[in-house]
Amino acid sequence: TPDGWLPRDSRLIRLTGAHPFNSEAPLTALYDEGWLTSPELFYVRNHGPVPQVNDEDIPDWEFTVEGLVERPVTIKFKDLVREYDQVTCPVTLVCAGNRRKEQNVVRKTKGFSWGAAGVSNALWTGVMMHEILKKTGLKRGARYVCMEGADKLPNGYYGTSVKLNWAMDPNRGMMLAYKMNGEMLTPDHGKPLRAIIPGQIGGRSVKWLKKLIVTDKPSDNWYHIYDNRVLPTTVSPEESANDKNWWMDERYAIYDLSTNSAMAHPVHEEQLCIVGAPKNYRVKGYAYGGGGRRITRVEVTLDKGKSWRLANVDYAEDRYREAGPVDLYGGRLDMEWRESCFSWAFWNIDISVDDLKDAKDIMCRAMDESMNVQPRDMYWSVLGMMNNPWYRIAIHREN
Ligand code: MTE
Repeated sequence: TPDGWLPRDSRLIRLTGAHPFNSEAPLTALYDEGWLTSPELFYVRNHGPVPQVNDEDIPDWEFTVEGLVERPVTIKFKDLVREYDQVTCPVTLVCAGNRRKEQNVVRKTKGFSWGAAGVSNALWTGVMMHEILKKTGLKRGARYVCMEGADKLPNGYYGTSVKLNWAMDPNRGMMLAYKMNGEMLTPDHGKPLRAIIPGQIGGRSVKWLKKLIVTDKPSDNWYHIYDNRVLPTTVSPEESANDKNWWMDERYAIYDLSTNSAMAHPVHEEQLCIVGAPKNYRVKGYAYGGGGRRITRVEVTLDKGKSWRLANVDYAEDRYREAGPVDLYGGRLDMEWRESCFSWAFWNIDISVDDLKDAKDIMCRAMDESMNVQPRDMYWSVLGMMNNPWYRIAIHREN
């Protein structure tokens, strides 16, 4: 395959054929690794071949800032590192297709089947996007920042856009990153440079970044228009293929993540021998919100939502916030001023084995600070994105 040169962790589960590479870790392995995911187990979503960049060429890697800016520039990697303030920040990335498998079971979507591990968390080091745009200056009418990667795909280079006023807001934390957990980015995750767009679907965080283009309109890149959208549930695969207008409607483009949670203990098909087992089973999982909104609760039900139990939520992100400003991995980690929550939270609750053995299933749901709560029912759409109904593990008894 075009990226046969790349070593990949054998624990990763391939979700599409040999190429392009799309993979997630087994959910328990991802969770058990802890709050920070290693590059090896971090989910991968590639639309095509991974651009091959040699280490000796990284200092001269160039990206351009063009469009509605006062002073268009070409910035070399080495100058980005030398001339700008460096920051480090934890951010969770989530593919918009996370949990799509559940949708494909109900009705086939156009997308491949992600389990619930299309999500990972890392400490990113780089330069804030607004610092770069402040230097170039902005022209009248500037409203969007388009981004383009170096991966050449059947429909051109991968690209998308975000609103300019988001990019200029330090609280939204958008950055150009070159390190992940203190190490240079690996090829699958954007070596040598990528955008990190916190709180939004992973598809906005363009890898192998070559261009920032400031515009008055959202990106016209093929991947911005025909990917990462939630069309109305009434639109079938055939209708969406025949009528371009469904795709051209920017209202259906998705940005902020939806509130979501899943269980990593138990996982599907896990076997629990209750003879001699401890009295309680510790149910554990992750939860994340969109747009930097904090998860305020995670609840678990054993009776299909008639009654709920409140889980403990651990905000590891707050430990970085409380530690105060520090220099980490060559960047300033300073979260004191930043209220937003851009990382997943882990949760747990002890359930007695007696209760578990009598239940038909166990389900969880999360809520964020704006009371966005995971719905009971699925919203099916043709691309199968943003799936976030109550997460369910069926319980079967064998004597
Ligand atoms: N950027 C480029 N250049 N090419 C891509 O295929 N995939 C996007 C985004 N950025 C993509 C890209 C999608 S859909 C996701 S979910 C994230 O990258 C995945 O990032 P990761 O592979 O580092 O987890």
